[in-house]
Amino acid sequence: MHAATNATGTPLRDLADARGIGIGAAVATRPLAGDSAYRATLAREMNMIVAENCMKLHQIQPREGQYDFAGADALAAFAASNNMRLRGHTLVWHQSAPGWLKDRQWSRAELLNVLSQHIATVVGRYKGRVCCWDVVNEALDDKIPGLRTSLWHDVIGPDYLDHAFTFAHAADPRAKLFYNDYCTEGLNRKSDEQYAMLKAMLARGVPVHGVGFQCHFVFDSYPAPETLVSNMNRFADLGLETQITELDLRISTPVTPEKLERQARAYGEIFRAALEARNCTAVLTWGLTDKYSWVPAFFKGFDAGLLFDKDYEPKPAHDAVHQALSIDAVSRGSGPKL
Ligand code: G3I
Repeated sequence: MHAATNATGTPLRDLADARGIGIGAAVATRPLAGDSAYRATLAREMNMIVAENCMKLHQIQPREGQYDFAGADALAAFAASNNMRLRGHTLVWHQSAPGWLKDRQWSRAELLNVLSQHIATVVGRYKGRVCCWDVVNEALDDKIPGLRTSLWHDVIGPDYLDHAFTFAHAADPRAKLFYNDYCTEGLNRKSDEQYAMLKAMLARGVPVHGVGFQCHFVFDSYPAPETLVSNMNRFADLGLETQITELDLRISTPVTPEKLERQARAYGEIFRAALEARNCTAVLTWGLTDKYSWVPAFFKGFDAGLLFDKDYEPKPAHDAVHQALSIDAVSRGSGPKL
């Protein structure tokens, strides 16, 4: 048991452990190093963490062939010493190409070699320590059907995904390999496309094991919980594990007690959907505290998307998650999934 310091009693991670589901947060390097309340709250409440930025290609391989593992090593050490599972995010993402990669003409063979070296090095270093990798992040275009344009796609071709998963599997055959994306949480054109893409990859024998649904939503506007369950279940029917990987529910400013209550309802609904879905093995929020969230910098006029406020006080959303995880597993018909 992990001692709770707030009025809500049992820490979320103990409830999640009892339900056999992961609960986690994206972790940033700077507060992990410098903010003891951040470390203590993570250790108390979460049984899983994911790298918010420090495992992205531009951070971990800032110059060709030169790796900077400092942030990722610190994260892996923190996970190990607090008995948490670690998700790796992300090996291939159109947004994380550093200058040395973008500002050069590559042949297909050369870029495949870069991909293979990068994945072998990073996955190899954390072999046995990262339970799940977001191998490819956000490959699908949101506006038009098909894969989005990116260096990887344009130079290697659409089979860059197959190669990335194959390289990752070779580097750590026991790690679960995920495809991760946004706007695919509900039943819609993009999630249909994601379904068809993963089904085809599985049919080709590509080692893909899971699908991550990001869930960056507005506190009062998100897919209906039954739609989230149906969508996750159709991926489960393909034999894939599902996870909610980047949940946050941003609130339009000013943040009021009423909006925080509405947000809490949404958090409760989404956690209950995850518990109900057949093969959803974890829910991770994209950050721990509103103090360090990416939201205000990226969405003007929005804030307060997470479970803990800027002073690490649990918000109504935290209490709603606590309640969702406390409901008797047997009466809900869902047993441990991990
Ligand atoms: O650390 C530097 C700081 O030194 C500098 O002064 C400041 C000025 O711009 O930038 C800081 O770096 C920022 C970094 O976040 C750390 O805060 C980068 O500019 C900023 O681009 C970076 O944004 C990250 C974003 O991905 C792009 O990599 C966010 O933190 C991170 O939350 C976000 O995460 C993504 C997931 O990986 C994929 N899904 C969507 C999600 C949200 O966009």
